[in-house]
Amino acid sequence: MCGIVGYTGYKDATPILIDGLETLAYRGYDSAGVAVWNGSGIVMRKEKGQLKNLEEILRKEPIFGNSGIGHTRWATHGEPSYINSHPHADVQQKLVLVHNGIIENYLSLKTMLVNNGCRFVSDTDTEVVAQLLGYVYKGDPLSAILTVMRMIEGSFALAILFMDDPHSIYCACKDSPMVVGIGEDGAHVASDIPAMLAYTRDVTFMSDMQVAVLRPNGISFYNEFGQSINKAVIHIDWDIDAAKKGTYEHYMMKEICEEPVAFRKTLEQYVSVKDMRLKSDCFPWNADDVDKLKRIRIIGCGTAYHAGVMGKKYFSELAKLPVEIEIASEFRYSGHCFEEGEQLIVISQSGETADTIAAMRMAKQRGINVTAICNVIGSTIAREADSVLFTYAGPEIAVAATKSYLAQITVLFLTALYLGKLRGALDAKKVSSLLEELSKVPTHIQNLINERERIQFFASKSFASKHVFFIGRGLDYGLAMEAALKLKEISYIHSEAYAAGELKHGTIALIEDGSLVVALVTQRHLSAKIASNIEEVRVRGANVLCITNGYLPDIEGHCNEVWQLESLSEILSPFCAIVPMQLLAYYMAVQRGCSVDKPRNLAKSVTVE
Ligand code: F6R
Repeated sequence: MCGIVGYTGYKDATPILIDGLETLAYRGYDSAGVAVWNGSGIVMRKEKGQLKNLEEILRKEPIFGNSGIGHTRWATHGEPSYINSHPHADVQQKLVLVHNGIIENYLSLKTMLVNNGCRFVSDTDTEVVAQLLGYVYKGDPLSAILTVMRMIEGSFALAILFMDDPHSIYCACKDSPMVVGIGEDGAHVASDIPAMLAYTRDVTFMSDMQVAVLRPNGISFYNEFGQSINKAVIHIDWDIDAAKKGTYEHYMMKEICEEPVAFRKTLEQYVSVKDMRLKSDCFPWNADDVDKLKRIRIIGCGTAYHAGVMGKKYFSELAKLPVEIEIASEFRYSGHCFEEGEQLIVISQSGETADTIAAMRMAKQRGINVTAICNVIGSTIAREADSVLFTYAGPEIAVAATKSYLAQITVLFLTALYLGKLRGALDAKKVSSLLEELSKVPTHIQNLINERERIQFFASKSFASKHVFFIGRGLDYGLAMEAALKLKEISYIHSEAYAAGELKHGTIALIEDGSLVVALVTQRHLSAKIASNIEEVRVRGANVLCITNGYLPDIEGHCNEVWQLESLSEILSPFCAIVPMQLLAYYMAVQRGCSVDKPRNLAKSVTVE
């Protein structure tokens, strides 16, 4: 999705804006632009395509000045082009602005503005905001912004530079993330924290219908009525390197290699490792709340939804709780009858996914208690949920979620243990033995990462596959869903996940000579059953790769290749088994020459519904 940056201070703005845009590039974009006050006017440079195109123009025609705004655009209204790139100005050039989000009533506003003499140059909904702001502006930027905020419908994050007040950057948002912060040399705004980490770690998250005015020496905040308000400053302890690629060729590989640390950090937040005890004060329910708990509902999108699929199995098995899980974008249309004693768990890495936010708000309106599992402190979901169980994966830049998924299933598992203990479904001995075993998972993951060449070799033989089927039973079916998504989103190979027993009810018709089938067999008690399913595809010509939890004699003779993982309790084995699946997707995509970190048509943070 689009990215916004802005800076006003004592340094040259353009390099700071470009640096911020480069950091936000992971969100996905198809054009970029900047506008800088150069002392006598606001000068714009913008270009279609990659940021390097804009940088090339800026090398030839530099702009110097101490305040400016920048943008990476992910086209929604109007094709990717110079004209449609942000920033956009009003017809009288009183202001320029950049925008994230979608203005739903832009057509009626545009008609009104055209009837009043505005001439439009682009096809974007953003230009409507710029023209409207210019139209209502009578010398008071704050009052004009408040008026416009009331007139536009939809979602927006806006950073605006006014000709009359060029050392200030005005920011406003609704349903679109925006963060501001003040560093030693000036004030910054961005759509996401990593873009300002190099300048400050003390940030403030904007809330809906608020305005921030950035000046070189401070930031003022106003509510929707124009009254001055105070807002909390949050310290972010991610370091700058955590959001940089370092010596890795891709963020995705870096983030897979960070999984042992992400796992350990998350575990240590919820578990006292010296005595292998869950820290009860980290979970938002006491014994009374748990007594009243009747059902858990889980929602999320994409990988977060797949983490929820694993969570459903953990809650059912460990806490003996009924669980419903749903894709967030469908949740609102399901006509739920909520019952007393229901708890909604919302899973989101970014905390900014529009579908998840909308579903969460709907549930909250109906009085349902919401707990978020989220990776980003201060994000919309983290702010609006009744309670948050944070994951400690650190910034995730590659579009494909890897370490955040591992951290999400870790939190879900620990929560299920906690609830299981309070509900009397698990005894203390069982909990501490599972925690003991869990604490060894980072070492097993590290070993898998160290031996990744074998996976690279397999990918070099299989990357030409046209279809890949991931099959599994029980927890392995949940794992298969995530493995299939990882492969298809970055390698563009058609891949599907099937409950192994379901194949023969239709899908097996697709199996032909040379089809690649990846069988996940971490659930030993199901190995004999899945061995039969593997046979069914093998006799129809499939090449079968099997991932097993330790040595499984049932499986050995039935497949073309086996990757045997460290033997673990069945419920824990998926924590390790997901890693070779992520590595397989990565190496297949590299072999096929795909853009691993920024796959086509995808954005990291999906802030539109
Ligand atoms: C896939 C992927 C997406 C996200 C989904 C939800 O690798 O990253 O499917 O999981 O867009 O994003 P969050 O977790 O930020 O709500």
